[in-house]
Parts: sequence; structure tokens; C-alpha cells
Amino acid sequence: MASLTSFFNPKSIAIIGASKSPEKIGNVIVKNILSSGYTGKVFPINPREKEINGLLCYPSINIAPAPVELAVISVPSSMVLDVAKDCGKNGVNNLVVITAGFKETGKEGLRLEKKLAGICHQYKMQMLGPNCVGFMDTHTPINASFAAGFPLKGEIAFISQSGAMVISILDWSFSAGLGFSKFISLGNKANLTEAHFIEHAADDPHTKVILCYIEDVENGTLFLETARRASRKKPLIILKSGTSQAGARAASSHTGALAGSDLAYEAAFRQSGVIRVRSMPELFDLAIAFANQPIPRGERVAIVTNSGGPGIVATDNIELKNLKMAHFSRDTIKQLSQRLPGESNIYNPVDVLGDAKAERYRLAMDKVMADQGVDSTVVLLCAGGVTEPVETARAIIEVSKNYPEKPLVAAFMGGEQVAEGAKTLAAARIPCFTFPEPAISSISGMVSYARFRDLPKDDAVLSYENIDKKTVKSILDQVKTDNRLVLLGSEAAKLINAYGIPAATTILATQPEEAADMAEKIGYPVVLKVASPKIMHKTDVGGVKSGLESFEEVRKGFIEIMEKIQIYMPRVAVYGVEVQKMMPKGIELIIGMTRDIQFGPLIAFGLGGIYVNLIKDVSFRLTHGLSVREMKKLISETKAYSLLRGYRGEPPADIEAIVEVIGRFTKLVTDFPEITEVDINPIFAYNKGVSAVDVKITVS
Ligand code: ACO
Repeated sequence: MASLTSFFNPKSIAIIGASKSPEKIGNVIVKNILSSGYTGKVFPINPREKEINGLLCYPSINIAPAPVELAVISVPSSMVLDVAKDCGKNGVNNLVVITAGFKETGKEGLRLEKKLAGICHQYKMQMLGPNCVGFMDTHTPINASFAAGFPLKGEIAFISQSGAMVISILDWSFSAGLGFSKFISLGNKANLTEAHFIEHAADDPHTKVILCYIEDVENGTLFLETARRASRKKPLIILKSGTSQAGARAASSHTGALAGSDLAYEAAFRQSGVIRVRSMPELFDLAIAFANQPIPRGERVAIVTNSGGPGIVATDNIELKNLKMAHFSRDTIKQLSQRLPGESNIYNPVDVLGDAKAERYRLAMDKVMADQGVDSTVVLLCAGGVTEPVETARAIIEVSKNYPEKPLVAAFMGGEQVAEGAKTLAAARIPCFTFPEPAISSISGMVSYARFRDLPKDDAVLSYENIDKKTVKSILDQVKTDNRLVLLGSEAAKLINAYGIPAATTILATQPEEAADMAEKIGYPVVLKVASPKIMHKTDVGGVKSGLESFEEVRKGFIEIMEKIQIYMPRVAVYGVEVQKMMPKGIELIIGMTRDIQFGPLIAFGLGGIYVNLIKDVSFRLTHGLSVREMKKLISETKAYSLLRGYRGEPPADIEAIVEVIGRFTKLVTDFPEITEVDINPIFAYNKGVSAVDVKITVS
């Protein structure tokens, strides 16, 4: 990816569409650049003016007096292409196109936007927008936007697909006293996308935490790779909107129906270490915690409170958020019992009682934070007649200085009575919330980030023996020649078998005697299944006969199936009947795949069988960069895992074999993009090995 250093630190800026009229965006941008403290050269461009805001104005970029590194364009959309071309010809490297009226307006706008992207490509320019607010960088400093105001200096980079969000969050940040390193309004992402800015922010020494608000990603693979790299370096917190099921597409497979619209994003975030939040408050609560507190070493949390109720709420949330209540050492308990009143609770949560003043908090906090079994601390204070919010805040600040490696967050519950105390804490970089839940959530977010960051790297490339691409290709070619979209069961079984995935022997027969002969060869018992790509639910139309034990039973079974189909589905093309070796029953699992437009193959694993959609015990992963560790995690996060490990005295299943099947399956769907959906359901897991029984494959 190209560097964005000159984008954020240009030596010179031209504002094309600069205006003298204070109500115009072109005027606000000039003022913003000047008032931000930007020290490079600034060239307003306007064909009608000689001077704007005390700066010499030029009629065109063609006669700018020095090379321009960044051009901010704020002319009507009809002029943007010509202006961008002029920029390209004059060696401008970076554009910010504020102008609206592109793809967001429909077909004509999209056409215009594509041309604009083409110009950027032709002249090797990097472009933010179009249809954006611009960007701000407090460390350069530069405000190349039309937002009102300039953020306080800080260490949070905020990348937003919504311009309105940039404007309103900026305004809110002043009252919250929150500082930022960068504000970036992505606009239509015709050239530079979220991935480019995430990559830059990950290496930016002034950025400690990266926040994103996105509605979609522009390029799934690029996003995955960038997010994975960035998350190793610093926390990447994303709020993605548009998660409703309304957008879920109709899918013919179980896997597709289970996947829905948001699961690919969920998998992408999980696999790349992104911390996903569900609301704006959560986004900024976490940002504040990450920006101001150290990352915890572990998951053990201590609570110090002056009242029972909030202490219990916090305790409940600790469990809910996959954290652990810290157990204090004997010494801590002894010291607490000596220093606190007899009525206090000296175990976690420590209750210093409603009449606790600052000094009592200090004593408790000091002992609790010093305990080796405590990784982070949450301090709660409820406003009361004798509480000392400001003094308590000061005591907490002093104590926390002795434990700089341990995160500390607070919840001061109340209104005016605690406002000054909360402010005092925030000024000392101790996040202070109004209620316990966000305090615990922010610790939880930090802990899950630490868990991801501390995982050893796991980029091993998977390689498997006995991969027979040729056979798969010839089966798919045959399906194409037949003008079919769905493979027959016998073809599907052969296909997965070619990639080393064990499947019950399945052979297509077109005559009753032929079927019986095959059964003799395969060995009894066998199952007969009608072979027709058009019949989805074979049992419902009498298309399945199982447990057949002899030549005669098979011969007769064939005839009966054909008769039934004649009655129930007379007009459907039938290829014959498949004879399948009847496998002993194992644990019924499903392994499936559906293709996501952005992220590619999304595989599913879980409890299989006919109730799969009802039980929904299925987890998902994207195949891009899928490691063995992630495959194991995929298995272990389902309820099926308890069965596989050996439930109620049952012998454990061959989990290694399942992992290998998932790996081979991943390779298969990666190697053959024409395979659009797969359901292996059920695949039986045994004490030794696995066997796929029903395989449905759809191609494009
Ligand atoms: N080179 C330089 N200057 C030019 C050129 C040119 N080729 N052509 C025109 N100009 C000058 C104009 O003369 C004018 O200056 P003036 O005030 O001295 O006359 C100035 O450029 C601006 O041109 P106008 O025609 O006055 O356009 P206006 O400022 O009204 O609108 C704008 C331009 C702001 C880009 C508008 O087209 C637009 O897109 N507005 C929406 C912006 C937006 O919302 N962006 C998305 C943000 S996301 C969010 O907010 C949620």
C-alpha cells in the first residue's frame, strides 16, 4: 500500500474552490487550514479572486507558484473531473474531494465517480472522498475539512464512513475533553478506503487506538490482511452498522440460510483481532479506556465500592463479559480487615460502606491494587450525604500512580454531587463512567484485545497430500456440460473424496438390477436415494430407502422409488438411483460453505442432521488465512464440541480428523471458486475418522 505520509503532512496545500463568501465550504476550509496552525504553503484557487483570507489567490492550479502536495477540491460536481485532471497534470499527489453528487446519487453519479477514480489512477494520485468532510490531524497540525472546530490533541484516530458522525463527534469531544490524533471522513471511498487509513494509523506514532465507523468494507481481502496486521500493533475498534437480517440473501443451502448478512463481518472481525462494538457510546468508552490506561495483563478484576447494589451489578457483568473476579491473597484480606470497619466486606467486591470518605477508599484501593492476583480495578462511588467525591478522586489518583501497569476505571454514580469528582478523575486519565456496566465493558474490551495480541503468530500455510484437482475439475466440467447447477450426490461424494475428505461410497445406477449388482459390490446394508438435482427433500417424496440387506430388496427398492417419484414429481428429471454404503451412526455434524461477496468463502461447522436450522449450533469462519488454531477454535466454540470430547461416558470423537477435514474443505472451496455453496450434512464423526454421508454442492 502506498504511504500516506505526504497526505497527512503536505508541504503545500491548494484549496480549489476557495471562496471569499463566509457561508461557502470553500471559505471554511481556508479558514480551518489557517487556524489549525498548519505551517506549510497555502494556495487558494479561484478564477475570480485576487486574495482570500489574506492569502494570494490563483486562478488555476496550473499557475500555482510552487508544487502542490495536497489539493482540497470544493467545486460543483460538474467541474470536479476537469479540476482533478489539472491536479494530475501538475503533479499533485493527494486529493481531498469534498464535493457531493457522485455514486450516492445513482447511476449518473456512479459513472462520474468511476471517471474520477480513473483520473486518480492515471495520474497516481491518492484521493479521499468524494462526498466527504475532509480530514484533520492534530499532530501535523492540519485541518483540511469544513467541520466546525479542530479537535484537542490526543492519541485516538477516528475513521468514519459517515461525514455527519465526524462533525457531531468532533463537537461532542470538546465537552468530553477527549483528544484525537486524526479525524478522517471517508466519503464514498472511490480511491482511499478504510484499509489504507487503518494501515497508516497502525504505524502512526501519535496514534494509540484506532476507531472506525463503517457501513461496509471496500475490499474484503485487503481489509482482512490490513486489520490483522494493525491489531497486532494497536487496538482497532470498529462499529459496523447495517447488521439487520433484512439484507440476508435467499440461500438454497442450510449454510447460506444460517449465515445471514452479518456473519461474514463478524467472522472477519474476529479473525483479524478487531474489537467489535455495537453502539457509539461503547466505541468511545473503549477508546477512552485504551487511550488512557495500560492494557491489562490478565482477566482478574477487583471491585471497590461504597454500596452493595452497584457492586453486585458489577460482579454480574464481570461474569457476563468473560472476566474473572480476582481472589485476594491472605495478606490482602488480613490488611483490609485491619484497616476497614468490621461491617465492611473485605472480599471481592470490597465494600468500604456508605459512609466511606476519601481516606477509607485510599486504604482499600492501595491494598487491592497491590495484590498480585489483581489485573485491573474498578472503583465505584455512589453519591451520599457524607461521601467526598473530589477528595476520593484525588486519593484514587494518588494510589493509582503506584501501579502504572494496572488499569483502573471508575463509575461515579450520581449527578451534580459527583460531577466534579468524575472530572478530576478524567483529567488524570482515569476513565470515569456514570454506571458500572460500561466500566466493566471497557475492561473486558481491553482484556480480549490483550488475549488476541499475545497469541503467538499463526500464519502456517496448510498443505495436504492426496489432493486430486483433476478429478474435481472433470466432475465440474461434466456438470457444466449438462447445464446443471447442482451436483448429484454421487458426483459430490466423489468430488470431496478427491480432496481427501472421506465420504460413504455412493454410485449412480440407472436400472434396478444394476443397483442390486452395485450393492453386492459395496456390501450390505445400503441406502438408496433418488438422483435428481431438482429434488431437495428426497425423503418427503419417497425417494429414500435405508437399511436394505439383499440383492432382491435393492432391486425392488429401486422400482418402488421410481414409482413414487412418478406419482409425486412426474415432470422432474431423474438420473436414476444412488446406491450408498450405509455407514454406522456417528455424531452428526455439518460442514458447509457459502460465499460472501466481500470476504469470499465462509465456512460453517456445527451440529448436523435434520434439525440443523432449528438448533443453530453452528459457528463460522472465513477461509482467507484460516489457521489450524482458528479451525480448532471453530470446533470448540460449538455445543457439538462437548459431544465430540465424549459426553456422559461416550468415547471421544476423532477431533484431529475433523480439523483435517475442515482444512481440506477450506482448500477445496478456495481452489474452485465456481463452487458457490456446499452442505456436508451429516458428516459422521467416529472414535476413529469421519465419513460424509450427504453432500450437496451448488456451482455458479
Ligand atoms: N477552480 C477554482 N474555483 C472555482 C472553479 C474552478 N474550476 N469553478 C468555480 N470555482 C469557485 C466558484 O467561483 C466559487 O467561488 P465564489 O464563491 O468566489 O464564486 C467556489 O469555487 C465554489 O463554487 P460554487 O459554484 O459557489 O459552489 P458551492 O460552494 O456552492 O458548492 C460544493 C460547492 C460545496 C462542493 C457543493 O457542490 C457540494 O458538493 N456540497 C455538498 C458537500 C457535502 O455535503 N459533502 C459531503 C460531506 S458528508 C456530510 O456532510 C454528511
